[in-house]
Amino acid sequence: MSNKNALLIINDLHAKIGDKTILKGVSLEINPGSVHALMGRNGSGKSTLSYTIMGHPKYEVSQGDIKFEGNSLLNLSPDERAKLGIALSFQYPVAIPGVTVLNFLKTSLKAVLKRDIPIKELRPMLKAKMQELEIKDEFLSRYVNDGFSGGEKKKLEILHLSLLKPKLAILDETDSGLDIDALKVVANGITSLNKEGTAILLITHYQRILNYVTPQFVHIFESGEITNTGNHELAFKLEEFGYEYFAKANPVASTNSTKEVNYVS
Ligand SMILES: Nc1ncnc2c1ncn2[C@@H]1O[C@H](COP(=O)(O)OP(=O)(O)O)[C@@H](O)[C@H]1O
Ligand SMILES: [Mg+2]
Repeated sequence: MSNKNALLIINDLHAKIGDKTILKGVSLEINPGSVHALMGRNGSGKSTLSYTIMGHPKYEVSQGDIKFEGNSLLNLSPDERAKLGIALSFQYPVAIPGVTVLNFLKTSLKAVLKRDIPIKELRPMLKAKMQELEIKDEFLSRYVNDGFSGGEKKKLEILHLSLLKPKLAILDETDSGLDIDALKVVANGITSLNKEGTAILLITHYQRILNYVTPQFVHIFESGEITNTGNHELAFKLEEFGYEYFAKANPVASTNSTKEVNYVS
């Protein structure tokens, strides 16, 4: 299923932390502008996959490759990967006391654009997106994630991404800890990011966010592997039957799922 126009091609990826192998042969292709959902149980290795794509030094790739726009990422630092247009929104965003949201966004944009954006220029860039995300002006002068609610943290992540406009955004459980109103706002922010051209890899436990962000592909992740791939329908089935049904060991689910496999190539 190799597609030379794919944005991201992960091929037979194995990765470990110390001696422990977590990813056991992940293959995935993401086309520019597409939306993929990756769903899996706690501990199945979803965050490991996102960190490995981003190049976190803790994770060692022992086999396989990750290519972005045709070039291997494996020898690049996280910073170099970010500059190519890959962004990761963390499952657990960290607080940075003493650094205001506005300064954080300014510094981050400067790193990617390689030029300084004056505050006067930055504020209007943020304005429309802040309205869309229902973020008040005073938010910009608060310290990054310091005392933020779950919803505020995730809104900041989306605001940040909308500024960076990456080619690929990996969103690790962006829906966790959100009430239904915040979920809708954040999901709409993701959809508009996608409409502006960013491909999305949305990591989630639940189908709920997929009511607002429509994936073209849904992948089920289990014990460090993608065990099923299908369309949006697969997420509804997962909700109905549970992860156990889709575990690799279940031959019925595996057989049925082959009919739904709808690879990008
Ligand atoms: N720093 C670490 N050291 C050892 N094992 C880890 C570390 N981080 C994660 N793991 C293990 O890797 C597996 C996958 O974790 P993770 O990628 O966080 O899963 P998920 O995001 O799907 O919940 C789990 O078994 C977890 O215990
Ligand atoms: Mg995780």
